[in-house]
Amino acid sequence: MASREQFSSKTGFIMAAAGSAIGLGNIWGFPTQTASNGGAAFVLVYFILAFCLAYPALMAELIIGRHARANVFTALRGIATGPFTRFLGGFVGGYGVLVASLILSFYAIVAGWMLAYLGEAIARLLGMDQLAGWLISFGFERNMLLMGLFMMLTMAIIAKGIEGGIEKWSTRLMPMLLIILIALIGYVLTQSGAQEGLRVYLLPDLSQVRPVLILDAMGQAFFSLSLGVGTMLVYGSYLDEKESLPKLGAAVTLVDAGIAFIAGLLIIPAIYVAKEHGATIFNDSGELIAGPDLIFQVLPALFNSMGEVGVLVALAFFVLMSIASLTSSISMLEVPVSFATEETKASRKQATLIIGLLIFCVSSLILSYFEQLFSLVIDLTTVYSQPLLGLLLCVFVGWIWHRDNLLQELSKGHPTISETWFWKIWPSYVKIFCPILILATFVQGVIG
Ligand code: PHE
Repeated sequence: MASREQFSSKTGFIMAAAGSAIGLGNIWGFPTQTASNGGAAFVLVYFILAFCLAYPALMAELIIGRHARANVFTALRGIATGPFTRFLGGFVGGYGVLVASLILSFYAIVAGWMLAYLGEAIARLLGMDQLAGWLISFGFERNMLLMGLFMMLTMAIIAKGIEGGIEKWSTRLMPMLLIILIALIGYVLTQSGAQEGLRVYLLPDLSQVRPVLILDAMGQAFFSLSLGVGTMLVYGSYLDEKESLPKLGAAVTLVDAGIAFIAGLLIIPAIYVAKEHGATIFNDSGELIAGPDLIFQVLPALFNSMGEVGVLVALAFFVLMSIASLTSSISMLEVPVSFATEETKASRKQATLIIGLLIFCVSSLILSYFEQLFSLVIDLTTVYSQPLLGLLLCVFVGWIWHRDNLLQELSKGHPTISETWFWKIWPSYVKIFCPILILATFVQGVIG
C-alpha cells in the first residue's frame, strides 16, 4: 500500500480543522441562533456545551482517527472487538459517510448562493447590471449553476489530496477570513444602530430562553465542530504521532467558538444598522429574521443603502462567506472520498469525481423539490443524525475500546498524559457523562 498522506505540520492541521469547523454554522448559524434565543444566555449555554460536550466528543474522533489511520468506516470496524461491534462499527461508519455526503448536498446549495451574491457585487462593480440582477434572483438555473460551480471548487481541492489540497488551501484561506471578518466588524461598529445590536447580542434576555434552547445549542455545537460524521476523525488520521491530541483538540474548539463569538459582533450589529436604514428585521410574529432572508434580503438591503462603499462591503462579506463555506465543504467531501479510496481500488481523483457527481445529483434533486426536501435534509442530518452519531462515537471510545489503548494512543505526542487532569477526567467522562447528556438533551428537545 502506498504510504498514507499526512498534514505537514501542527499548524497545517489546525488550519484545516479550524477551516472545517468554521463555516456557515459560525458566521450565520451562531449569531442568528443567539439573537433569537435570548442573546447572551444562549452564548453562555453554547460555550458550556462546546467545552463540556463537544470538546470531549471531538477528542473521541481525533483519537480513533489517529490510532486507526483510516476513514471513519474502516477505523470503527478496525477498533471493534468482536463480530457484533464490527458490525456496529461498519453501520456507524457507513451512516457517518452518508450523513457527511448529505450535509454537503445542502451546504453546496447555500454556498452557491454565497457565490451568486459575490458574483453580483463584482458584476455591479463592472457595470453589468443585468447579470447582477440575474445572480440574485432565486431561480432553478441560477441555483444549479452556482451549486455546480461550488462543487467543482470543492472537488478540485480534494482531488489534490491532503497536503497539496486541504492543507494548502486552508492555510491560505483562513488568515484571509480572519482579516476580512475583523475589517467588516470595524466598519459596521462605527455605523449608527450598531450599539443596539451589541446590546441585544451581549445582554441576556431570560424571557426568551425556551426549553429547546439547550437542544439548539447542542445541535449548533456539534454542527459547528463538524462532529459525528467522521470529518474530524479523518483529519485526525492525517496527524503525526508526535502531536499532543488534547492540546490540538482544545485549540480547535477554542478557535471555533471564538470565531463564532466574533462573528456575532458583526452580524447582530449589522442587522440593527440595517434597521436604522429602514430595513424590516422582524417577521410578522415579532421574531428577528434569521433564515436565508437575513443573509439574502436584510444585509443586501443594508449594503445597497450604503452607497458606493456598499458594493465593496458586500463583496468583502460574500468573499468571507464563500471562504468559510469552502474550507468546510472540502472536509465534508473528504469523508466519502477517503472511504472510497481506502475501501476500493479507486484513485483519489476517480473517487473525487464519482462521489462529487453523485452529491451534485442529490443537490439537484433537492433543488428540484426545494420546498419538500431542503429543510427536511437539513433537519435529518444536523438536528437528528449528528448528535446521535456523536453519541455512538463516544460509546465506541468509552465502552468498546480498551482504556489501555486509549492511554497508549494519547501518550504518543504527550508522554506525561497519565498525570494530567485530562486523563483523570476524560475517559469516564466520554464513557458515561457525554452519552447520557447527549441522549437527555436529544430526548428532551425532540419530545418537549
Ligand atoms: N462546521 C461546519 C460549519 O460550521 C459545518 C460542517 C458540518 C462541516 C459537518 C463538516 C462536517 O459550517
